Amino acid sequence: MGVGYTFSVRLADWEGDRKALEFVRRKVFIEEQSVPEALEWDDQDPLALHLLALDADGNPIATGRLTSGGQIGRMGVLPKWRGRGVGGGILRRILQLANERGIGPLFLHAQLTAIPFYEKHGFCVQGEEFSDAGIPHRKMWLE
Ligand SMILES: CC(C)(COP(=O)(O)OP(=O)(O)OC[C@H]1O[C@@H](n2cnc3c(N)ncnc32)[C@H](O)[C@@H]1OP(=O)(O)O)[C@@H](O)C(=O)NCCC(=O)NCCS
Repeated sequence: MGVGYTFSVRLADWEGDRKALEFVRRKVFIEEQSVPEALEWDDQDPLALHLLALDADGNPIATGRLTSGGQIGRMGVLPKWRGRGVGGGILRRILQLANERGIGPLFLHAQLTAIPFYEKHGFCVQGEEFSDAGIPHRKMWLE
């Protein structure tokens, strides 16, 4: 991996980092995946723990969040950064935070295309396929 793909992951603050978090989620979910804006921002945002990945210049490149109820979500990596371990870095940090803060059991609603990614991190599918914001999903749990 070249120096051009150096990144870092840190805990973010919904108020202080809002522009960066919204920038990534708007690009990935609203613009690329056509998730309606009204569904993208929800009442969990002010309450959840947010993670942000930044490139070497401090530009936001990926997000993820963990609710107090143990739900992981809003995992989004900008297209040019996919397949470079950024999503994995965010997910590992979320698992670490959940462990430190006693949050769990952990679950998520995976887009079908992302199931192999979550399986690599120990999640297992449970239950039938369902549609959320017009995108097929399955529920996954961490044993
Ligand atoms: C799903 C997503 C969050 C994963 O993040 P990522 O940074 O691409 O994932 P990583 O690079 O950490 O790991 C991806 C794994 O998939 C595989 N992979 C290889 N090339 C890939 C590519 N171009 N894109 C995605 N995954 C790839 C690799 O095997 C890798 O596993 P490894 O760690 O054993 O190498 C990201 O691709 C994404 O934002 N997708 C669009 C939005 C989305 O679907 N979000 C999920 C909602 S449930």
